[in-house]
Amino acid sequence: MALWGGRFQGESSALFKLFNDSLPVDYRLFEQDVVGSIAWADAIASVGVITAQECTDLKAALNELLTEVGEQPEQIIQHGAEDIHSYVEQQLIAKVGDLGKKLHTGRSRNDQVATDLKLWCKSEGESLLTKLSTLHAELVALAEREVDAVMPGYTHLQRAQPVTFGHWCLAYVEMYERDISRLQDALNRADSCPLGCGALAGTAYPIDRHQLASALNFARPTLNSLDTVSDRDHVVELCSAASISMMHLSRMAEDLIFFNSGEANFISLSDEVTSGSSLMPQKKNPDALELIRGKTGRVYGSLMGILTTMKALPLAYNKDMQEDKEGLFDVVDSWSICLDVAALVLSGLSVNRPQALSAAQQGYANATELADYLVAKGMPFREAHHVVGEVVVFAINAQKPIEALSVEQLQQFANFIGDDVYKDLTIEACLEKRDVLGGTALKQVSAAIEAKKAQLNHG
Ligand code: ARG
Repeated sequence: MALWGGRFQGESSALFKLFNDSLPVDYRLFEQDVVGSIAWADAIASVGVITAQECTDLKAALNELLTEVGEQPEQIIQHGAEDIHSYVEQQLIAKVGDLGKKLHTGRSRNDQVATDLKLWCKSEGESLLTKLSTLHAELVALAEREVDAVMPGYTHLQRAQPVTFGHWCLAYVEMYERDISRLQDALNRADSCPLGCGALAGTAYPIDRHQLASALNFARPTLNSLDTVSDRDHVVELCSAASISMMHLSRMAEDLIFFNSGEANFISLSDEVTSGSSLMPQKKNPDALELIRGKTGRVYGSLMGILTTMKALPLAYNKDMQEDKEGLFDVVDSWSICLDVAALVLSGLSVNRPQALSAAQQGYANATELADYLVAKGMPFREAHHVVGEVVVFAINAQKPIEALSVEQLQQFANFIGDDVYKDLTIEACLEKRDVLGGTALKQVSAAIEAKKAQLNHG
């Protein structure tokens, strides 16, 4: 039976029920609905709506329900209730009879669903923060293992300047740190308790909303009842934080897919995260990374979905908002498993140092060094840039790297070039000259790794 039968004389159509019911989605809020109901029982007992004994009995029944179905909330779907709130109430009535019908006094499903959803976001958010930290730690460990593995750095997917694999790892470490802080930020803003706002105007019972908020482990109560029941900013923010983080994950995945390609062959992925082809026996495909890249699309889709659903909705609650959960749940599931899989990929990844080094030695990645050499001898940089461009064309035609050209050949472009040029053209020189905060020199990367490790130890 629905929670709202009295006003109606006819039955809902089966099609409408199918369309309107949200239990197949919101059953995942079971635990939060029970926990919120326990706090609400205390709240209405404190203002004399129910007796202390009735409160004890209600809470015992709710706790019993929690243990009965808590471990497998998906069994709830078999039940025909309209939504998770109706389900919990019906089960409660089945357990304690008419007493169960008293619990909803002063509460609406509007403040109830807002509370459940925030509680869910808070708890999932904590687990996502842990997963982000694990991934962060995995990358720092990989940076340490491969601190001095040389590989080409790219712009426009053209070999640009040599960098180390450790330096590459630390680039993503920075991104995941921003993701952590963005998520923390969103969770802090979501940390206000909606319960006690009723349907839209506030509950008519003089409950202490501060006390209720702290009973549910919220930092504070919300401050305006109209806003409270119609606010889904926390859903938007979680989807947005997830989208940005998935953007980072997908960029890392794409880099690694390329590094793992036959063409680059800078890294090898472990058998744990790759799969074979049903036809081509030689293939070892980077499926885990491709799926991370692929799932990013649906996460963005859900962000667009919730933004569009909320656009231009009048105050206060509208049923449109029931559409908030499916996308959010999918976002959190996708982000969560991608974080786990990304950490697994990194833990089993090895760098093929000779191939990565030899790629860094090709492609004229030391051209900037030659320009800097000319600058050090007094030539203005813009002119040096032009001269080196000509040297590169010459070297390409001669099918040689710059360092294989003789001094005489180099002197055709700038007559003051001497033998001392060759030491500047080595990979080691290219790397070591970038000894500035944020640069790829070994000293800088090692110091950055130490700083990240100290940060990890201090939580
Ligand atoms: N299933 C609903 C939702 O998720 C619960 C709130 C229903 N409120 C209402 N006034 N019909 O939004």
